[in-house]
Amino acid sequence: MIPLSLAQIARVTGGQLCHGDPDAVVSGEVVIDSRRAGPGGLFAAVAGERSDGHDFAAAAVAAGATAVLATRPVTVPSVLVADVPAALAALARSVVDALPAVRIAGITGSSGKTSTKDLAAQLVERLGPTIAPAGSYNNEFGHPLTVLRADAATRYLVLELSARGIGHIAYLCRVAPPRYGVVLNVGHAHAGEFGGLDQVARAKGELAEALPADGVAILNADDPRVLAMAGRTEARIVTFSSAPVSDAPVRAVDIRLDDLGRPSFTLLTPEGSAPVTLRLHGAHNVPNALAAAALARELGMDLDGIADGLGAAVARSRWRMEVHQRPDGVTVINDAYNANPESVRAAIDALAHLAKGGRAFAILGHMAELGGTSRASHEDIGEYAARIGDSGLAGLIAVGEEAAPLLDGARRVRSWTGEALAAPDGAAALELLANRLKPSDVVLVKASRAAHLEGVAAALEGEAGQ
Ligand SMILES: Nc1ncnc2c1ncn2[C@@H]1O[C@H](COP(=O)(O)OP(=O)(O)O)[C@@H](O)[C@H]1O
Ligand SMILES: [Mg+2]
Repeated sequence: MIPLSLAQIARVTGGQLCHGDPDAVVSGEVVIDSRRAGPGGLFAAVAGERSDGHDFAAAAVAAGATAVLATRPVTVPSVLVADVPAALAALARSVVDALPAVRIAGITGSSGKTSTKDLAAQLVERLGPTIAPAGSYNNEFGHPLTVLRADAATRYLVLELSARGIGHIAYLCRVAPPRYGVVLNVGHAHAGEFGGLDQVARAKGELAEALPADGVAILNADDPRVLAMAGRTEARIVTFSSAPVSDAPVRAVDIRLDDLGRPSFTLLTPEGSAPVTLRLHGAHNVPNALAAAALARELGMDLDGIADGLGAAVARSRWRMEVHQRPDGVTVINDAYNANPESVRAAIDALAHLAKGGRAFAILGHMAELGGTSRASHEDIGEYAARIGDSGLAGLIAVGEEAAPLLDGARRVRSWTGEALAAPDGAAALELLANRLKPSDVVLVKASRAAHLEGVAAALEGEAGQ
């Protein structure tokens, strides 16, 4: 973070300095978790559902924080503001304005933002000092906190932008105006809150709209709703595609998956072609890799650097398509981070690939925030799962009542000979599976964040044969 005095912080945020020395300097990290407050940092106190950050103001200062950003008086050095996210946004914007040489890239889409951000960051880091968020720091809190980590040494910001409604991405783009914008896809994540895919497209397209005339919009040519965003930006358009036939400048052809579902492909760019093998699992990571490649290319990376970087990139954020092979021969796909119809289909495709010739099981929880189409979406996914491979799934275990329509969908497939099993919770799912699992079976674990199925996956990964 750029060192800022409390007087400067009060001025930028329109806040009022209390109990503090105006010349005291914040030079450490800005955090909203008091346990992470450290020397010279700033602790932003937020009132959450379970606890109120203001109660930890003194602890944060005792841990070394220079001051607290607060909305009500506390007994330690603080800047009192009306609204903490707005204050963080103002601070982040002032840091961006103070660092005009930093090139800012924003990545959005319904699925794959974090995976793409992690890939892109691992490429861009090769070009110079890069700040990218850990995990999914992509909203009105995480976004400014990430931007605030930039300092005079920073050359690139690779940011993940999320939206749960119209205007959210436009807001994040005002906090840190991107010159490079990547849009991956328009899908059903949070579609219930948005009120349909057209609204999701409207919201994601705000990134394209925010780009300046000398900026670059990097768009997925394989998603018509994303491609249509070309009409909503002044920026130059660069498209990418993993379709066999396409006029996109950045492409993947000859896509193959190895036994563990890791894609290899030939990367085609206007500068030439190069072979790429990803360490990530699942064909859905091909468009993510192309998006990262297109961004790195715009930032000046040559083709060999891109291909090499993609091949070296690892999964940085947990529970996204982690493939774990147990000593007893069972393979566990831990994709428990989150779920929406597109990402569950992608995960089922990966399951089908890994289980080729063997038996596949899926432990699926419900997909949240789908609104009125929720039941039908769950049924469709159940049907999709029952149709994989030659014989379909050996077993589909739906965790929790809301996931039950998955089973109805699977039962629609008359030729399906697998078992449709309902489990009230993760422990019950594990029990149902334990009686059935044999060596060389493959198990997928996936659900929305709220279902917390990562514990189920961890239990499975740790079990048996060790
Ligand atoms: N391009 C993609 N298309 C469809 N599903 C994807 C894609 N990329 C990732 N996924 C799926 O979505 C899940 C979440 O990926 P993540 O990168 O965390 O996305 P986000 O940050 O947008 O939520 C992954 O575990 C994977 O199953
Ligand atoms: Mg994310």
